[in-house]
Amino acid sequence: MIRLSNICKSYRLGEVLLPVLKDISLTIGAGEFVAIMGPSGSGKSTLLNIIGCLDSVESGSYHLNGIPIDGAGDEELALIRGDKIGFIFQLFNLIPRINAERNVELPLLYAGIARHERKRLALAALESVGLGDRALHSPMQLSGGQQQRVAIARALVNRPDIIIADEPTGSLDSLAGREIMEIFAKLHAEGKTIVIVTHEEDIAAFARRVIRLRDGRIERDDIRP
Ligand SMILES: Nc1ncnc2c1ncn2[C@@H]1O[C@H](COP(=O)(O)OP(=O)(O)O)[C@@H](O)[C@H]1O
Ligand SMILES: [Mg+2]
Repeated sequence: MIRLSNICKSYRLGEVLLPVLKDISLTIGAGEFVAIMGPSGSGKSTLLNIIGCLDSVESGSYHLNGIPIDGAGDEELALIRGDKIGFIFQLFNLIPRINAERNVELPLLYAGIARHERKRLALAALESVGLGDRALHSPMQLSGGQQQRVAIARALVNRPDIIIADEPTGSLDSLAGREIMEIFAKLHAEGKTIVIVTHEEDIAAFARRVIRLRDGRIERDDIRP
């Protein structure tokens, strides 16, 4: 479903062009659970953002479910994201002044779903991550692990096929991190495609496939039997 061919991406810093991804070719099938690892600065987030249609490629091709994504403009990318992809970030990215249920509702608001239906779907998503009883709490009234579970509920509420997470356990203690990974394992068992970035081996061990980047290239791509 995800097919990258010869992807290159650089950032311009003043006069200097900094190559970040160098000729990346990669296929991820529907329902795979993949961890991307590698040293800091090796291009993990850049690659994840391209896979998640948050960023465009410079050269090479990207097909998502057979549809070419390279060449899509920002608006087109936003539509694809809203429909197919749920994102989870290291620092949760919740809105502090609104409660958990309202945070989870936001993608539905952008999708134009009516208030009553939004609330029903948001509560169901919170229940699916074990937070049905925290709907009225604001992010500050929740632990880090609970905030990340709210963020997962928000990513799930549009029923995306693909879940993308950039160091989702990077701000959590090991127990909370493990709880988050158990939710990803459950989503994987339900058939979602999951791609996470992590630098922790015990977190990557939840995935069946581990792709290691080094200096913008794929150094290893291992699938556990
Ligand atoms: N928006 C940007 N502008 C300029 N350089 C960037 C930008 N984003 C990332 N980089 C650079 O690209 C390289 C790879 O970054 P990134 O993909 O975030 O790596 P990782 O997630 O593996 O730490 C780094 O050298 C970083 O400084
Ligand atoms: Mg990163």
